[in-house]
Amino acid sequence: MSDIADTGCPGGLTPGARSGLDGVVTKQIALSALIVPPGNTTGAWRHPDVDPAMVTDVEQYKQMAQLAERGFFDLFFLADTPATRTDNLEYWSQSPMYFNSLEPLTVLSAVAGATQHIGLGATASTSFVEPFNIARMFASLDHISHGRAAWNVVTSANDYAARNFGQAKLAPHDERYVMAEEAFDVVSSYWDTWEDDAFVYDKENAVNFDPSKFHVVDHDGKFFRVYGGLPIARPPQGWPVIIQAGASVPGKELAARTAEVVFGTGSSVEAAKAFYDDLKGRMEKYGRHPDELKVLSGLQVIVGRTEAEAIEKRELMDSLVPIGAKIMHLCNDLETSLFDLPLDEPVPLDRIPEKSNHHQVYFAEAADLIRQGLTLREVAMRFTRATTVFCGDPVQVADHLQDWVDQGAGDGFMMSVNWLPGNLADFVELAIPELQRRGMVRTEWTGSTLRENLGLARPANQHVKS
Ligand SMILES: Cc1cc2nc3c(=O)[nH]c(=O)nc-3n(C[C@H](O)[C@H](O)[C@H](O)COP(=O)(O)O)c2cc1C
Repeated sequence: MSDIADTGCPGGLTPGARSGLDGVVTKQIALSALIVPPGNTTGAWRHPDVDPAMVTDVEQYKQMAQLAERGFFDLFFLADTPATRTDNLEYWSQSPMYFNSLEPLTVLSAVAGATQHIGLGATASTSFVEPFNIARMFASLDHISHGRAAWNVVTSANDYAARNFGQAKLAPHDERYVMAEEAFDVVSSYWDTWEDDAFVYDKENAVNFDPSKFHVVDHDGKFFRVYGGLPIARPPQGWPVIIQAGASVPGKELAARTAEVVFGTGSSVEAAKAFYDDLKGRMEKYGRHPDELKVLSGLQVIVGRTEAEAIEKRELMDSLVPIGAKIMHLCNDLETSLFDLPLDEPVPLDRIPEKSNHHQVYFAEAADLIRQGLTLREVAMRFTRATTVFCGDPVQVADHLQDWVDQGAGDGFMMSVNWLPGNLADFVELAIPELQRRGMVRTEWTGSTLRENLGLARPANQHVKS
């Protein structure tokens, strides 16, 4: 989860400034909406326009996806963790994320029937979900949505999840990634159980499928031992689109080998560009071209008809943040408690733990803010979980996004929707037309599958290739 940080508004631009990019056609970007109902900020559920009970109302998910589809978002993405927290409930109750949320694949199956074009992405953890189950769920969603499914490959990053699966704590960070590499291979092998034209449905000759086009999955590895096959025809996309968000070295290696969409980190254009170049530079050794992977930079954006209106909206959001909950989130990512410290004094450097086992990049950002000598309140409020935070009028927002892409810091954006549906509706209504005018956002759908819309190739069946 993320929060609006105390970074000034509009970030990086002199108020009212224009970049002079008027009418310039730049590259078309990929857009994803990160949906964590009722909004991906600590105070979202308290927003006057938010219905906090929408979290279990599937009709509202459908409407949000339709809204994102009207704005030509490529992807509607639901984050997930297979857990709820079990301690510090008085703080979590101020900011109840992942305390009351629907299982994402189930939701997306319903959303698929209410939409036609937008991609449908969800998280499933390789640390806890068996490869067979992952392959089966996402193959089903790909069939249900006629080729719009995407799997976000995560290793999970909290011990609450581990305890739901009989483990006292998460396995060590790098070992989780070794497991994820193997899990990915098994999952993709399951998707290739059947060749594309295996099911012939020949009634006359009583041949339902061609047995020569079935390939058994026979794998004996460090973490998984399986012998079998997927009882579902090959997914329309061959494989659902592979998403990854790891920012550590093993995370980037997994992404460089397997991912087609990566949720990039970096709260400044320089940091995002460094991430982008580093990640794309790792692909060659896996025989992949940089264009086979789209980096979507994390983005929090508040747009208003005027800059003043955007600032007003942002100030309202800031006023709703319970500081105790904000510190709770910081402590979670720093993997230590800071609750004994005074709010308005610098955090002592010796309170930074020696190493992290959860999210390495978020840990590094929190540690960095503490090293700047900021007070606990300032650290908590400025912590963005490595996303760019911006607010402004439609032209300022479009300038910011265009500049980011033109400087080679990303292929598009993962918009963390701060409150639902208002923050998304504002973006679709106000920013999208300006981005379309510049040629950055499509004005019509070009393909029928998510792969086609993102310009990604359909993978050949690995058994047939060989
Ligand atoms: C946009 C975005 C969405 C994410 N969604 C999830 C999620 O749904 N579930 C999860 O466990 N982790 C999620 N993560 C966390 C990452 O998968 C990963 O654990 C994190 O970036 C730390 O990886 P690292 O240790 O390789 O840096 C997300 C990260 C980003 C940036």
